[in-house]
This record gives sequence, structure tokens and C-alpha cells, in this order.
Amino acid sequence: QGPAAAMGGEEAVREELGSLHGMPLYKLFIEGWPRVETFQARADDLLIATYPKSGTTWLSEILDMIYQDGSVEKCRRDAIYNRVPFLEMKVPKMPSGVEQLEKTPSPRLVKTHLPVHLLPTSFWDKGCKVIYMARNPKDVVISYYYFYQMAKMHPDPGTLGEFLEDFMSGKVAYGSWYEHVQGWWKKKQEKQVLYLFYEDMKKDPQREVKKILQFLGKEVSEGTVAKILHYTSFQEMKKNPAANYETLPSTVMDHNISPFLRKGNTGDWKNHFTVAQNERFDQHYQEHMAGSDLHFQMEV
Ligand code: A3P
Repeated sequence: QGPAAAMGGEEAVREELGSLHGMPLYKLFIEGWPRVETFQARADDLLIATYPKSGTTWLSEILDMIYQDGSVEKCRRDAIYNRVPFLEMKVPKMPSGVEQLEKTPSPRLVKTHLPVHLLPTSFWDKGCKVIYMARNPKDVVISYYYFYQMAKMHPDPGTLGEFLEDFMSGKVAYGSWYEHVQGWWKKKQEKQVLYLFYEDMKKDPQREVKKILQFLGKEVSEGTVAKILHYTSFQEMKKNPAANYETLPSTVMDHNISPFLRKGNTGDWKNHFTVAQNERFDQHYQEHMAGSDLHFQMEV
């Protein structure tokens, strides 16, 4: 028995990923898929879509603050994973994302990591707005590597070199980053999708928050914008128990291995990639993004 079991918790077991229509995903989420596929969206739902580790929590906190008119107290009412339910989430002994959403009053904020082709059709039928946030793949893969280590539902990520190969070949949870970012990018041409970049949000959060407000057709005072920017900064969110995931048991996420809000920077990959890994990654990136008008800033 490990220390967590001694404390009354259960050791979460690392498990190999299953496959959902060819996309690697946690087996528990696959079990819950039938209810996700038939999920009933509401017209005023706002969907927050991202590939994992692209700033989902940051964007979620910004949106909840907008929805709560900048009230810090209201945004502390619950943990971020309850304020913005995770659509396809299913773990033992907890309400699934769908169950949480069914009990959430409108207007709801909904989080998903699904690639565009797997999104339940109801979101399109109801004409829901979507905000997608993308982040450059080098920082995503490093952030994901640490996340695999601290979040125990993942298989063992192996060495960074091995994880880089898995990431490039789409063998990590949610599959190919390249297909994910490009699939949602194309959707923007026909649907109400606001496509944001983590790097832009870092560089000029005020401009990006104003873009969001305009997309939502919401107006808030300059003072409220300033408050939102302050409370959604990396430093503030890192110490906010309602935003930093530290309220989950350490059997699920072990922040001693790596905190959920880890560095919050652009370009941290430079501290991890070897020259050879970087060259290989660049080449793979060129091949898989060739012909696309979607471009990423790898550093700022
Ligand atoms: P790092 O591991 O590079 O630090 P997600 O919420 O999609 O899982 O993404 C997590 C990543 O977003 C982590 O990246 C985390 O630190 C970063 N992040 C979370 N809140 C942030 C904020 N307010 N500002 C900048 N980055 C933030």
C-alpha cells in the first residue's frame, strides 16, 4: 500500500489508452462516450475547445469572470472543473461531464478537448458559439509531458524523447495535435468559431479579452476588464485554489511531481529539447503543416 492508500485514498492506476474512432483516449471516457455523442446542447451554451495543455483553464477562468461580471467572489464559488464542466469527462465515483452539465443552469460554459469531427452534432444544430484556443506544439508537448507525469490517468510517458515521438505520431490522448488545430481552423470558415492563440493571450491579454467580449456581444467597463486581467494572470491563478486544481486528491493529480500551473510561458521547450530533437520536430512540423495558412509562434 502506498501513502495515499494509507490516507484513505485509492492509488489511481495508470492505464493504457483506448481508441475512440481511431483517436487515443482514456478508456473511462470511451465508456461514457454514448452519452456524450447524444449530448443535448442549448443554443446559449458557449463551448471552450482546445487540444490539451493549450490554455484551457486560463480561457475558462477568463470566461467565467466575464460571465460573472468580474466578481471574484462568484468565481470562487467552486473549482474550475465544476464551474466549466468537461463534456467528455468520466471517472469513477464522480458525476460525469454530461451529468454535471445537465444540472448546470444556462448560460453554460462547456469545456471539451474533442477534435472538431467528433464534436456532438447538437452544438452545430443549435448554432452554439465556440472559442478555440491553440498553442504552439513545442510548448504543448512539454506541458503535456509534465501533465502525463502528474495526472495519474495517463500511461507512463517514458523519456521525453519517447514522448516526443508519441506526440508527433498522434499516439497521445486526443491524438494528433496537427489534425486538431487544423480541423478547428477550417471550421472557422463556416461556423461561429473564435480562434485564439495562447501566445497572443500572453503578449496582449487586454486585446484578446476585448476580442472575446466582442465575439460574445458583451460589454463590461474598463475597470472590469482590468480586474479580469489581474485575476486571470498566471501568478493569481496559481495561488487560487478554485483555479489551480489543487483541490483534487493527489491520487488523481500530484502537484508535487509537477504543479498544474507549471510555468505559463512561451518558449519553455528550449529548456527541454535537444538540438537534434528540435530539428526532427521542425521537419515533422513543416511536413504536417505544409500548405496551411495556420501559423504558430514558437517563441515571443
Ligand atoms: P505549462 O505547463 O507550460 O506551464 P490546460 O489548461 O489546457 O491544461 O493548459 C495548461 C497550461 O496552461 C500550463 O502550461 C499552465 O501553466 C498554463 N496556464 C494556466 N493558466 C495560465 C495563465 N493564467 N497564464 C498563462 N498560462 C497559464
